[in-house]
Amino acid sequence: MIDRDAIKRFVLRRYQSFAPALDIAGQAWGAAVTGCDGYERQNLSLKDEISRELGRVLGARNTFELWSYTKAFEADFAAFCQKPHAVGTSSCTAALQVTLAALGVGPGQEVVTSAHTFVATALAIHNTGATPVLVDPEPGDLCISLRGVEKALTSRTRAIVPVHMHGHVADMGPILDLAEERGIAVVEDCAQAPGASRGGRRVPIGHTGCFSFFANKPIGGAGNGGMIVTDDPELERRLALAVDPEGGDPVVLAGARTPCYLDALEVAVLKPKLARADAWRERRAAIARRYLDAFSGLDAVLPSRNVESAWYGFVLRIANRNRVRSRMLRRGIETRVEYDPPFFRSPAFAKMGWNARSWPVAVRAAQSGLTLPAHPFLTIEEQERVIEAFKNATS
Ligand SMILES: Cc1ncc(COP(=O)(O)O)c(C=O)c1O
Repeated sequence: MIDRDAIKRFVLRRYQSFAPALDIAGQAWGAAVTGCDGYERQNLSLKDEISRELGRVLGARNTFELWSYTKAFEADFAAFCQKPHAVGTSSCTAALQVTLAALGVGPGQEVVTSAHTFVATALAIHNTGATPVLVDPEPGDLCISLRGVEKALTSRTRAIVPVHMHGHVADMGPILDLAEERGIAVVEDCAQAPGASRGGRRVPIGHTGCFSFFANKPIGGAGNGGMIVTDDPELERRLALAVDPEGGDPVVLAGARTPCYLDALEVAVLKPKLARADAWRERRAAIARRYLDAFSGLDAVLPSRNVESAWYGFVLRIANRNRVRSRMLRRGIETRVEYDPPFFRSPAFAKMGWNARSWPVAVRAAQSGLTLPAHPFLTIEEQERVIEAFKNATS
């Protein structure tokens, strides 16, 4: 028998120290009627298919069949991204780390990325031995700014990791041109943006990008998983070796060290979801349009004009956020904060000597951003309740 309260207490104890906002999330866990993830509903809607796929994995006759099963999913995911190659990993963090290592990123080098992202982006860079160099995002879509990247480049810069934040897509064209001019690698952090496109091109817009299958992601497994997608066959060959315990790529193993391939059990959960990913993305976009109509005049984090966002989150920047969150929670609506405190304030990065004043847009995003439930399984009634609860909480 699972002791749910003990688990809640454990998780809250662990995370409260660096994320006081989870106090509210913790309450929501027990009380919210309308949550942000829709994880349970996603799985219920595909219960039979997922069970069938799990049966195939558990009934595999040998490990070669398991391997082939994952390989087939990699090919399907590459096709979904309109790229020729994909390599599954245990997480997006591992995907970013192993890709950067394969591209030659290591100690003594710098990697430029956005100050507004989940800690994992910076961690993956840090784990290669390189130094993350942070750039303030654009205030509109909160994706990395070209001007910031230009200013951050030095002779030590080896790579740029733009983040397609909240499912919106960074303006990649000029960043890719700049990188090519300088001989710098680009690895897109697509964790939040599967299926998103800019100017009709899906992410990754450049050669290579990394995705997350964490359970709350638009294509979410039962635990975690990730994928590297690339149009570079040589990189794919090296990465396929690097993620495997028996893989033999010495450079990548020196950087990444830990085998980190994608598990067939995760694939069993992900496969039916990949088939629905486009339809679910459209439902998220429809919900975002409804919210935008309802909240016109408010400061929403919006994609650029030529972007089809994955709408991983619908984010508004507001004052009195905690009061609004508590009031919405009392009406049974969970909300999220991504991410406060921001990772660059974390004691884990104290030795970097970072100064938060360098990234005013990211600081403001952390202090005022509020993510509303916008997953594809929200009913129309629930969407109306979110709108009403938000209006009520802010009046
Ligand atoms: C922008 C971003 N990058 C990287 C990651 C790391 O993904 P994973 O949990 O699969 O390692 C996440 C996960 O939330 C993310 O949001």
